[in-house]
Amino acid sequence: MPRLYVISASTRPTSTGRPLAAWVAELAASRTEFDTTLIDLGELGLPFLDEPEHPSGGRYVHQHTKQWSAKVDSADCFVFVMPMYNGGFSAPLKNAIDFLYQEWKDKPVGLISYSAGTSGGAPAIEMIRPVLGRVGLRPAEKSLSIPGIEERIGEDQRFLATPELTAQAGAVLDEVTEALAATESAVA
Ligand SMILES: Cc1cc2nc3c(=O)[nH]c(=O)nc-3n(C[C@H](O)[C@H](O)[C@H](O)COP(=O)(O)O)c2cc1C
Repeated sequence: MPRLYVISASTRPTSTGRPLAAWVAELAASRTEFDTTLIDLGELGLPFLDEPEHPSGGRYVHQHTKQWSAKVDSADCFVFVMPMYNGGFSAPLKNAIDFLYQEWKDKPVGLISYSAGTSGGAPAIEMIRPVLGRVGLRPAEKSLSIPGIEERIGEDQRFLATPELTAQAGAVLDEVTEALAATESAVA
C-alpha cells in the first residue's frame, strides 16, 4: 500500500493548523488506498540546514538528516498542510524540503493551506509550487485553502469540518491517488 505522509508545516507549540493536519490524516487513513502517517515538523525538530554538502549527493553527516532522509525516502506521496505567514509559506517547511533532494523526486504532493485571514493561504500555495518543482515533487493541481482557521477549531481542539471541506480535501487526495497510479503504470 502506498505510504502517504501528511506533513504539518507549523512548528509553533500553539499551532492552529495541527488539528487540521490531524483531520486530513484521519480522512486519508479512512480511505483504502494509503498507509497514512502524520508528521509534525514541530515534533520533528529539525535545526536550520546544517549539512556541509549539497543535499543532492545524499552524503549526510548529521543523524537528524539521516533520519529525515530515511523517512521521506520511505514515502510514496505527501500532503503538506501549511500555514500562511506574511503572505508566504512557512520557513520550517522550506527548511525541511531543502534538507533533502533525491528523496522527494517524482512523488505526488497535495497542498492544503490555511490562514487567519480570508485568503486561506492560497498565495502560499502558489509561492511554493516552483520550489516543489525544483526538487521534483509533483504538486496536485487541485488544492484547498481554508480561511479563518482560528474559528475552525472546536473546544475539543479538533478541526471543525464541513461536508464541503471534506469533499474538497477528498478531491486533493483523489488527485494524489491518480498521480500515484500514473507513476506505477509508467514504471510497469
Ligand atoms: C508569523 C506569522 C505571520 C502571519 N501572517 C499571516 C498572513 O500573512 N495572513 C493571514 O491571513 N494570517 C497570517 N498569520 C496568521 C496565521 O495564518 C494563523 O495564526 C495560523 O493559525 C498560523 O498557523 P499555525 O498556528 O499553525 O502556526 C500569521 C501568523 C504568524 C505567526
